[in-house]
Amino acid sequence: MDSCRLLVVSNRLPTSITRNGEQSWSTKISGGGLVSALLGVKNEETKWIGWAGLEVKDEIGQKSLTNVLAEKRCIPVFLDNDTTDKYYNGYCNCIIWPILHYLGIPQDDCFAKNGTYKAQYDAYKKANKAFADVIMEHYREGDIIWIHDYHLMLLPKYLKDRNSNMKIGFFLHTTFPPSEIWRTLPEGPELLRSLLASDMIGLHTYDLVRHFVSTCSNILGLESTPKGIVDQGKLTRISAFPIGIDADNFINTVQTSEVKMEMKRLKEKFGGRKIILGVERLDTIKGIPHKILAFERFLEENPEWRDKVVLVEIGVPSRSDVPEYQKLKIQIHELVSRVNGRFGTFHQVPIHHLDQSVNFPTLCALYAVSDVALITSLRDGMNLVSYEYVASQTTNKGVLILSEVAGAAQCLGAGAILVNPWNTPDIAASISRALTMPAKEREKRHQHNLAYVKSYTAQEWANDNLRCIHETIAEAQIPK
Ligand code: UDP
Ligand code: G6P
Repeated sequence: MDSCRLLVVSNRLPTSITRNGEQSWSTKISGGGLVSALLGVKNEETKWIGWAGLEVKDEIGQKSLTNVLAEKRCIPVFLDNDTTDKYYNGYCNCIIWPILHYLGIPQDDCFAKNGTYKAQYDAYKKANKAFADVIMEHYREGDIIWIHDYHLMLLPKYLKDRNSNMKIGFFLHTTFPPSEIWRTLPEGPELLRSLLASDMIGLHTYDLVRHFVSTCSNILGLESTPKGIVDQGKLTRISAFPIGIDADNFINTVQTSEVKMEMKRLKEKFGGRKIILGVERLDTIKGIPHKILAFERFLEENPEWRDKVVLVEIGVPSRSDVPEYQKLKIQIHELVSRVNGRFGTFHQVPIHHLDQSVNFPTLCALYAVSDVALITSLRDGMNLVSYEYVASQTTNKGVLILSEVAGAAQCLGAGAILVNPWNTPDIAASISRALTMPAKEREKRHQHNLAYVKSYTAQEWANDNLRCIHETIAEAQIPK
C-alpha cells in the first residue's frame, strides 16, 4: 500500500474538552464505539478533524484550543451553539439516527425544541460546509480523507465539488435500513448522491451493504454491480468491513494490579451474587427497557435466584438535550425502581443502575467479574461492548447474551446466546440458561468468540478499508 497521509474526519473528536479559563482547557477521552474503534488504529501520519464539542467564540480561545488539540494530532471545527443544536441535537439525532435504525421520524417535540425541520437541515448543511472548509485548509495533494458516520453525509460531495482528485472513503458506523424506510426521509436522495461522490463506502455487514445498494437502485434508479453502484460510468465501491477492537488492550488491562484490585472490590460489594452486566449509552436503540422487563420476568419466574443475582446496568449519558433521550431516562428510572421495589430487600436490590460513564480500568474490572453480559439492542451497527466483554473474560468465561439484530450477532453468533430483544420470555429463559450453563459449554463458547475478537482487530479493519480505497482509485485510473 502507498504511504500517504490520512485525514480522519468525524463529528466527535477522540478528546472531549472543558474550558477552565481564557486559555486553559482540560481534556478526557470521548465515549462511543466510533471513537473506541478508531483509537485502536495506529497509523503514523494521521490527523483527526472533528467538532470542538463546545462553542468557542473568541479568537484567543480558538487559537489556544487549536494548539492544545494539535498536540493530540486533532484539528477542531468550531460551530456556534445554535448550529450545533439544530445540526447535532436536531437533524443528526432526531431525524437521521432513528431512520438509520429503522424507526420513523419523531414529529412534535423534536421540532419544537431543536428548531423546524428546514432549520435543522439547513444547519446540517452549514455544519458539513464548515467541515469542508477546515479540511480544505489542511489538505495536501495525495492525502486520503476518511469520513465517518451519519453526521457528515453531505461532506463527500462538498469536497469533490472543490477538488475532484481528492481520495475519499466513507464509513457508516450505524445500521442502514431497507429502502422503504430511507424513502421516508425527504433529503434521502440528496444524501445518497453525496455519499456516492466518495470513492469507497464501507458498512459493517453484508446485509447493510445489500440495503444500501438496493436503496441506491430503488430510489435513484442507478445500476448496481457486485462491486457497488455505477453512475454515469463512475463506480462507487460499496463493501462490508465488520469493525473490531484493540483486543490486546483489554486482555492486558485486566491483568494490571489496578484492575485486579477493582475486581476484588466489586466481588466484595456484590457479596457472591452472580453478576449480569449491561453497558450502553442511554439510547433508544439499545433496548434498555426491554432488558429490564426481561430481567423482571426472570425474577418472577425464578424466585430462588432473587437474592443470588444482580443486574449491573451502566447507562452512559448520551445526547441529553434530545427529547427522546430525556423520555427514555425517565422510563428507565421508573422501571428500575419498580423492579427494585418488587424484589429488593433491606439488604440489597436486584438492579444496580448508574446514569454515569465509568473509567477504563473500572469498565475492564466490571467486564472481567461479570458472569453474563446482557445486550438487547433493538438495532445496532455492531456493538463493541460485546467484543470488549469477550476480550476481558480471561478467567470467568462468562456468557454473552446478545441481540440477534446487533451487527455483532453476525460475528459472535456461534458463541453467544442470541435473543430477539422483543421476546421477553425468551430473554428471561436465556438468563436462566446462562446462569446455569455447565463450565465446559461456557469455555467452548467463550473460546469461539475470543478467537474471533482477537483475529479481526480495529487495526485490521482500518487497513482493509484503506487498502480498498487505494484499490478502487487505482482501478478507476486504468484506461477503459
Ligand atoms: N464506553 C465509554 N464509556 C463508558 C462505558 C463504555 O466510552 O462509560 C465505551 C465502550 O467501551 C465501547 C463504546 O463506549 O467502546 C460503546 O460502543 P458500542 O459499539 O457498544 O455502542 P455505541 O455507543 O457506539 O452505540
Ligand atoms: C455511535 C455513533 C457515533 C457516535 C457515538 C456516540 O457510535 O455511530 O458516531 O460518536 O455513537 O454518540 P455521540 O452523539 O456522543 O457522538
